Amino acid sequence: GKYRVVSTKSMPGTRWINLLIEQDVRLEICTEKKTILSVEDIIALIGDKCDGVIGQLTEDWGETLFAALSRAGGTAFSNMAVGYNNVDVNAANKYGVAVGNTPGVLTETTAELAASLSLAASRRIVEADEFMRAGLYDGWLPHLFVGNLLKGQTVGVIGAGRIGSAYARMMVEGFKMNLIYYDLYQSTRLEKFVTAYGEFLKANGETPVYWKRASSMDEVLREADVEAILINCSRGPVIDEVALVEHLKQNPMFRVGLDVFEDEPYMKPGLAEQKNAVIVPHIASASKWTREGMATLAALNVLGKIKGYPIWGDPNRVEPFLNENAPPPA
Ligand code: GLV
Ligand code: GLV
Repeated sequence: GKYRVVSTKSMPGTRWINLLIEQDVRLEICTEKKTILSVEDIIALIGDKCDGVIGQLTEDWGETLFAALSRAGGTAFSNMAVGYNNVDVNAANKYGVAVGNTPGVLTETTAELAASLSLAASRRIVEADEFMRAGLYDGWLPHLFVGNLLKGQTVGVIGAGRIGSAYARMMVEGFKMNLIYYDLYQSTRLEKFVTAYGEFLKANGETPVYWKRASSMDEVLREADVEAILINCSRGPVIDEVALVEHLKQNPMFRVGLDVFEDEPYMKPGLAEQKNAVIVPHIASASKWTREGMATLAALNVLGKIKGYPIWGDPNRVEPFLNENAPPPA
């Protein structure tokens, strides 16, 4: 191989591997067993010559790593994630390293997990499952695991981008919920969708659904009925987890569905003991199709940059540099 590319983790599927090795790339996949690699581990992987790296959201891609990659002749880094809060894009620019992420392929998968958590929290699925497994079920009772009906309630969405909009549509259409959303940008597509669906319901003699664009996050939190349920499938630090644990303790009817945590992989003390919390280990994008797609995109990002394919657009920019709809290099 003419080029040397390092992947800090083994990733699902084989397409990403084939794409690289068919294009003159010597691929090195890190076999280190520990889950989170340190900056020193990654510097060792980069070595003296490395054209590009496929990395993970658990890694701290800052000044030190971009300097090391640049010294090794590297020009491309792709995070196998849509989020890139672990990447210092300015530092990458400074060292002439283009940064890519993997949007698009995880939109529906992530929204489906947010919907799963919404249902699990509202219908107390995890608590009920534990109850069954503990052998506690001794007959049907009118009060047993009574939860909330979503239909006719208002779902609040903070951030109506790709994932937030997909989730909003699932909740509106799937469960006949009203929508209140907050975003810096107006989502006319989402508004049109809810309007059209509301008209459809009305035409069928059902209560229509409606939407509202809030002017602040507070307005969403005040007006949404999924105020009794809070879902986080973005990044942990958007929620003050210590305050959340306190709130869960004092309000047994308040429920939360969490995929991400303030200080991953740790949970704040007390969270694990709260029955009104459904907690999963950052698996929102974890469908086979999506994870293989993310791996493929991550490989294409690096390949596109090191081989100079113009379809990958502006170097040194996250997102516009990538295009999940672009065909693979010839
Ligand atoms: C996962 O958290 C991602 O950003 O893709
Ligand atoms: C419950 O099982 C019912 O029949 O109402």
